[in-house]
Amino acid sequence: MLDSWSLMNNWNLIIPPSRPSERQLELLKELTACIDRRLNVAILGSTIEFRDLLYELNFQNIYVFERNEDFYNLSKKQRIYNNEEIFVQGDWLETLEKYPNHFALIVSDLTSGNISYIHRKKFYLDIENALLNEGHFFDKVLTHSNNFLSIDKLLNKYKTLPLNLVTINYFNCEMLFCSELLMEKEIVNTDYFFRKLESLTTNQRILRLIELVKLITPPGFIWFYGKHWIELQSDYCKNLIKISEYEDEIQSPYYGFLKFFHFKK
Ligand SMILES: C[S@@+](CC[C@H](N)C(=O)[O-])C[C@H]1O[C@@H](n2cnc3c(N)ncnc32)[C@H](O)[C@@H]1O
Repeated sequence: MLDSWSLMNNWNLIIPPSRPSERQLELLKELTACIDRRLNVAILGSTIEFRDLLYELNFQNIYVFERNEDFYNLSKKQRIYNNEEIFVQGDWLETLEKYPNHFALIVSDLTSGNISYIHRKKFYLDIENALLNEGHFFDKVLTHSNNFLSIDKLLNKYKTLPLNLVTINYFNCEMLFCSELLMEKEIVNTDYFFRKLESLTTNQRILRLIELVKLITPPGFIWFYGKHWIELQSDYCKNLIKISEYEDEIQSPYYGFLKFFHFKK
């Protein structure tokens, strides 16, 4: 079955916070200081920055858990290094459970939205079980709490901004992942969102911006975002100890929505 990530062909046009930021990588580097480089570490998804950093930090056994082999191969070409990795192909909901007590570190960048709300409990329990005792989980999560951004205000803001990669990425973050659009069904449905936005404006600059956003977030995608974080917390890393929690940087379009969590088992 073709999963939508095969449609993601312009990863090089994507910038933080839709991919790891410098500060996030600094936080990861700091928390790995105490981890033995011979122990197994895992990345959920093909996150290029994590794979290059963990290799640079001399970890010997780097696992990549990824369902979409096309995207894995595409991301390989965009990496700095071509080191050996242990590629575990398949859905996290089927693969993680096969690695009980296996990892000293699991890292994740915006994975939660890829997992439907009914499967979140199993997903995070499998992550907990896959960690060794004293193992670390470092996650970046997009959370929502009735602070949805006004569609009208965003259309007003972006109709005066220059068309460039920053504007395209920030419109993508604010409008598709943080606006009132998510309130309807608590999902990001890119087909429906693009049609809705195109029906809400005749402004040529916005209509062009929407076309450009389709390059980085193609039609045909569904993400599970929009449900209040309070409702989701009960299924999130319940048996792990929270070491720290960070907000995103104030200039980030995800400021007030994004959280970085460091847990330990
Ligand atoms: C990690 S998430 C978000 C991307 C992240 N912001 C980044 O910079 O890498 C997307 C990645 O996870 C993979 N993925 C999504 N859902 C998955 C699932 N249920 N099981 C395994 N891999 C999945 C996708 O194919 C893609 O490579």
